[in-house]
Amino acid sequence: MIPFIDLQAQYQAYKKEIDTRIEGVLSRNDYIMGKDVKELEEWMSNYTGTYAVALSSGTDALMIPLYAMDLKEGDEIITTPFTFFATAEVISFLKLKPVFVDIDPETCNIDINKIEGAITPKTKGIISVSLFGQTTDLDRIDGIAKKHNIFHIEDAAQSFGAIYKGRKSCGVAEVSTTSFFPAKPLGTYGDGGMMYFKNKDFADKCASIVNQGQSVRYEHQYIGVNARFDTFKAAILLAKLGHYDDELARRNEIATNYAKAFAGSKAIPLKIEEFTDRHAWAQYTLKVEQRDKVRDLLQEKGIPTAIHYPKPLHRQPALAYLGLKEGAYPIAEDMSTKVFSLPMHAFMDNDTQNIIIDGVLDVLNNI
Ligand SMILES: Cc1ncc(COP(=O)(O)O)c(C=O)c1O
Repeated sequence: MIPFIDLQAQYQAYKKEIDTRIEGVLSRNDYIMGKDVKELEEWMSNYTGTYAVALSSGTDALMIPLYAMDLKEGDEIITTPFTFFATAEVISFLKLKPVFVDIDPETCNIDINKIEGAITPKTKGIISVSLFGQTTDLDRIDGIAKKHNIFHIEDAAQSFGAIYKGRKSCGVAEVSTTSFFPAKPLGTYGDGGMMYFKNKDFADKCASIVNQGQSVRYEHQYIGVNARFDTFKAAILLAKLGHYDDELARRNEIATNYAKAFAGSKAIPLKIEEFTDRHAWAQYTLKVEQRDKVRDLLQEKGIPTAIHYPKPLHRQPALAYLGLKEGAYPIAEDMSTKVFSLPMHAFMDNDTQNIIIDGVLDVLNNI
């Protein structure tokens, strides 16, 4: 079976740098929020032009700024129903109300034209999701947020490294978040995440909440949590950073090859927006009729696929209390029956990609 992603190939390629970094942590014994965590935060701050704060996961990276805003139960946060569960989960977890806005069928990102129609006096913010590695039109969403005096968070869990109109994903909105889950474009070997802030005071407050609300040791200013970042995981990321531009270039090459191969076929790649100067290609996703049959036939050929996402969030059992019936977000529902993703990672060689392409075209010609 062809791998969907290949973390082992990546480790072998950077083994020396990763092992040296890990040995450094072992020799210092600074396992939690140690030297490499600080170095990573500094690198991330410079890269994005923000105050960057590392923490335990991409989910916590969304949760903590929302918590720190001291919102009231029932306050509404607008987001997309076509994303990983975490985006809406954190809203509900904090007893806020997720309000979904349907998606654009060409990109599967939130349909910005529909956002203002969902704003009510209770709306406090918008969480946009840069799905599959491509941002939304962040300036447009920022404009809507400013006009209505609400916040905008970019959930960039899948798009670290993407470039929007010359600016980095994670560096445009007032608050942005990413995930270092191993399968993400920039992943570590375990869970991890980063919050990015334009405002230093708010960054400091969130950093304190990550560490039990402490500003100085044993002085607890806020009710917080333990969502600290492990130094080993920062060390691994630091070893990878110098290679990340090359990895993104290779992901883009692979995406271009796929797009050329499938042009005019029954499988339609998602649109690349004009404002996207660089896509991070967390997933390479196509839309096709008879999706499940296509996947079964590919599986028989040893070509793995995945579905992002098989069920829009308003249809998830945990969110049934919102009372949103089937048909509430027809485009997200339709896309959840059509999309599938192909293997995408920087270590795929051309021969492997050609096997995948030939396999897909063969299946499409025979259904
Ligand atoms: C869009 C989106 N938001 C949030 C998350 C949560 O990140 P993590 O798995 O690091 O908690 C993910 C990761 O799967 C994601 O894809």
